[in-house]
Parts: sequence; C-alpha cells; structure tokens
Amino acid sequence: MTVQHAKLNGWVKEVADMCRPESVHWCDGSREEYDRLMKQMVAGGMATPLAGRPNSFLFRSDPSDVARLESRTYISTARKEDAGPTNNWIDPGELKTAMKGSYKGCMRGRTLFVIPFSMGPVDSPIAKIGVEITDSPYVVCNMHIMTRIDARVIEKLGADGEFIPCLHSIGAPLAPGQKDTSWPCAPLDQKYISHFPEENLIWSYGSGYGGNALLGKKCLALRIASAMAKREGWMAEHMLILRLTNPEGKWFHIAAAFPSACGKTNLAMLTPTIPGWKCECIGDDIAWIKIGPDGRPYAINPEYGFFGVAPGTSYDSNPSAMDTLKENTIFTNCALTDDGDIWWEGMSPAPAHAIDWKGRDWTPGSSEPAAHANSRFTAPARQCPVICPDWEKPEGVPIDIFVFGGRRASVMPLVHEAFSWDHGVFMGATASSETTAANIGSVGNLRRDPFAMQPFCGYNMADYFGHWLAMGDRFGKHAPRIFYVNWFRKSPEGRWLWPGFGDNSRVLKWMCERVEGKVGAVETPIGLMPREKELDLTGMDIPGADLRELLRVDPSAWKAEAADIERHFGQFGDRLPARLRRQLDDLRRRLG
Ligand code: OXD
Ligand code: MN
Repeated sequence: MTVQHAKLNGWVKEVADMCRPESVHWCDGSREEYDRLMKQMVAGGMATPLAGRPNSFLFRSDPSDVARLESRTYISTARKEDAGPTNNWIDPGELKTAMKGSYKGCMRGRTLFVIPFSMGPVDSPIAKIGVEITDSPYVVCNMHIMTRIDARVIEKLGADGEFIPCLHSIGAPLAPGQKDTSWPCAPLDQKYISHFPEENLIWSYGSGYGGNALLGKKCLALRIASAMAKREGWMAEHMLILRLTNPEGKWFHIAAAFPSACGKTNLAMLTPTIPGWKCECIGDDIAWIKIGPDGRPYAINPEYGFFGVAPGTSYDSNPSAMDTLKENTIFTNCALTDDGDIWWEGMSPAPAHAIDWKGRDWTPGSSEPAAHANSRFTAPARQCPVICPDWEKPEGVPIDIFVFGGRRASVMPLVHEAFSWDHGVFMGATASSETTAANIGSVGNLRRDPFAMQPFCGYNMADYFGHWLAMGDRFGKHAPRIFYVNWFRKSPEGRWLWPGFGDNSRVLKWMCERVEGKVGAVETPIGLMPREKELDLTGMDIPGADLRELLRVDPSAWKAEAADIERHFGQFGDRLPARLRRQLDDLRRRLG
C-alpha cells in the first residue's frame, strides 16, 4: 500500500526505528488479510477454530491480562489539575521517557502492523480517523471487526488529513529462535495505558486485552475524544444508543450510560415484552453526539462491532446477541466444549466437561468458573438481527432521552426522572455502581462512577460536568429528558426485585410517554417517579410488595447518600460547577 501522507509515514518510521520490528505491514482491512493472520495464529497455537460457528475463533489470554487496568491508565496533561482527581497522572515528559525505554526494541522478532481506521462511518461529519500501530495480530483482527478499515480511510487521509496516532505494543520482543507464547504480554507493573489529550496521542504498552489494546475504543473514542469534544463543543459518551418505536410508529432515540458490565449490550438489543413496541440497536457502548443543523443533539455509534461481556448472555437474556455471535466472531477467555464450541456461565445448562479459560479440564461443580467473568466476544454489528437500518446514517439519530444508571442493591429506585437539565446533570455526576470484573481490581464495591465515565474521562471530571451543563444551555428547548434507572435492586434476602432484560421496555415506555406528555408522575424528593398504575405491567407477574420496594424512596438512606455525594463533590474543590452544588443543596432541602 502506498500512502502519501508525510506526517503518517514519518511517524511510522520513527516508531519502527524505536521498536525495531522484523517487518512492517500496512493493513488494508481485507478478508484476505484477516484470514491470513488468523491462519498464522491457529498454526502458532494462539487461536482455536470453533466447530459450528463459521470463521470464529477462541483465544485464551495470559491470566494476568484479562481486563482493563485502571491502576495503570494515565491521563498525562502538562498540569496535574487538568487531569483531575479521578485520573492517574504522570508528567508527560517523565511518562514519555519511561515509556520510550520500554518501547526500545520491544517489537524485535515481530511484525509492526499499521492500521488506518475510522471511528464512525467514513462519510460522517462526526467521524474521526485514527492510526494504530501494533505488534499484535490479535489486535489487528479485532480492529477489523470493531472499526472501519478500508481504502476510503486512506483516501480521506489524503496527503495531510488529521489522524490520532495510537501506538500499541504487547511488550514482548522475541529473541532469534525464541518460541512465542500463546498470549505474549508484559508483566502487570510494566504495563501502561497512556493518553496525552493535549496532543491527541495514545501510547499503550504491555497488554493485549481489548480495552487496553484496541485503541480506537476506550482510549480514542472515549478518553481522547472526550477531551476533543470539550474543546470542540460536542460530546463523547459511554452510552448505548437505541431506537424504540411505539405502536403508532413514532420513534424515540435513547442514549443510556451504564458502567462496564452493567447490561448496556442487553438493553441496546432489548426484545420488548410489551405488545406493539419495537427496539432496534444503534450502538452498545459509545455515543458521539453533535448538535445538528436543527439544534437537536445527533448521535452516532463510532464503532463497527460489539466487544461484549460473554457470561450471562443467553437466548433468554439476549437472543439478538446470541444470533449475532453465530459466525465471524472472536471469543476471548470463554470455555471450550468437547464438541469444539464455546460456553460460558449463564449461556445454557453446563456441559458435562469443558476446557476452562486457563486451558484446564473443567466439570460442573469445579471451584472456579469455566469462562472468565470478563470473557468477551468481538462480533460485527451488522450481524445483529435488530441492528437499526439507520445505524450507519452519517448524520446520526436525534436523541430524545438520556438515561443514567448503575448496579445498586438498595437505595436507588427502579426509575426516576430529573426535574430539569441541571438536576439530570446532577444525577449523572453522582451516579454510582458496584464494581464489576471489567476492570482488574475488586468486584462488588460501591463507587461513584459519574456518567459511567469514571475510567474514561480524558480531563478533569469537574470540567466535564461543566461541559454537560454548557451543552444543555446550547440544546435549550431541544435538550433530551433525563432519567435514572436501577435494574439491580434486591430484597433484604438478596433476591432481584425486577426481572430486567425485555421487561425493561416497560420502564422505557414510561419515559417515552413522559416525553409525549401522555403519562403522569409523582414528585418525590429525588425526582419524578411513576405511580404503580403508570407503569405498564400487563402480562407481568410481579408481587405488589416488590413493586412498592422498587419504587420506594427512603429519606434516611438518601440523607446518607447526600453526605456521600458531598464527599464525592469535595474532591473537585473550587472546580466543581456551582450549579451542581446548588443541586445538592436542593436535594437536601427536599429531603427535609
Ligand atoms: C468495555 C468496558 O469493554 O467498558 O466496554 O470495559
Ligand atoms: Mn464500555
């Protein structure tokens, strides 16, 4: 491939001089390229072809390299306060010196791949071009699925088009004659996932895991893009996008932010249990939102595929995801059944025997799960049976509703609506959730995860709150309505109170009818909530006591919540927008 872009060619040469690969390959995104790399990985023992799923493969990672690594993820700005209290920070000069030491000779014995890709449909005014350099063929194949890689990207780049350089190495050079391992990577304390938002630059070292290595996703489309969006007046959010069509054929576009592994993919592909309503998926993880010519917020999904959490996905919970995974899919850290297919906990009845994600024999009752809790599938979005026909519309879809949420066993009701835009921003800024296996660290701890962006905001989170307030001012009468949901509330004995999945359509219906002014709400100290009769529960068998508990607001628990929000806000000092502090005062006043 010939590329006439001096800056790009210069950067590739500079990286090759530093990393010393055996060869350089420019990726064209073709099927032939994908097949050739997969064939090599199968021959090298890294990938296992699956029976019954055409062109699908299983990979097993090193046990240390199974999830995002927030403790080694950096936002490196010239001034520490611009990264803010929620990000790890190292001075850019110091970080680059340390990382250049790691990158020196790190690709010895390997191929350096150059991947020019587009986040968003190439012809979209909202799309951005990135170029990832990596020494991992696994990353190349995943990028084929997750981003758009084709000749049109090179054409759009031209001689001097803008691109975001994304440098990645697994950090495992090969000495002459050295045999490769099935998942080469660097030890935990040598990994870095670094972002330099002031120069739109990403440097990742030592990990092959998706969120750390597929740099178009979390690194570009969220951390770098959030900083660009602040500068340029748009939004980059950790949100699914869906279209709901009511029985009269009216569309509602919903963008919803939930932390990692809290059901975004399931909600995005929801099968409504209420008659006459239809849901179509536009994206399951990231939304880029710009104000359109009519003043409304328009969203695109910058991705091209789904990198979803496998455990719990089944024909009961998410049939559309299951159908998406029938072919052309990469599975990572799932179990392998004796008939050559994949399996994970919650997919179907357990097989009598399997090979677990560490490559060991597994039988039901084993002390460890067969699939890692953060095992993943990488699948093309176009294979989703409920993909929206407009999912690649260059101008995006107009958003009517924003939803925030998290995983909370208590306190948070099933749904509440914001009184105003500022109150909605307050809800986003104070969102909380129990931690999941999507990050390396402890699972089940309650933390604030503002806008589900705690791990993904590329600048000071207080300024990000300010950006949301400013965008609301610009949206004016077109500002989407804001809601907060919690599908995860439990009874005192630890039983889920709400069935979730397809029944979540009942809650979305209430939101749509609120937008249309068709249904009422009751004012509570924390927001507007449906009366029991205002939720469509037809055909559902939910005990009245459970419903009352789901919609209960406990003022004493909320006073404790307000105290915790005070602590959370305290970390931002003077940078916290006064409008949010006022919201906290108002909440306290309403709680009495
Ligand atoms: C993801 C994540 O992979 O949020 O989407 O971790
Ligand atoms: Mn995510």
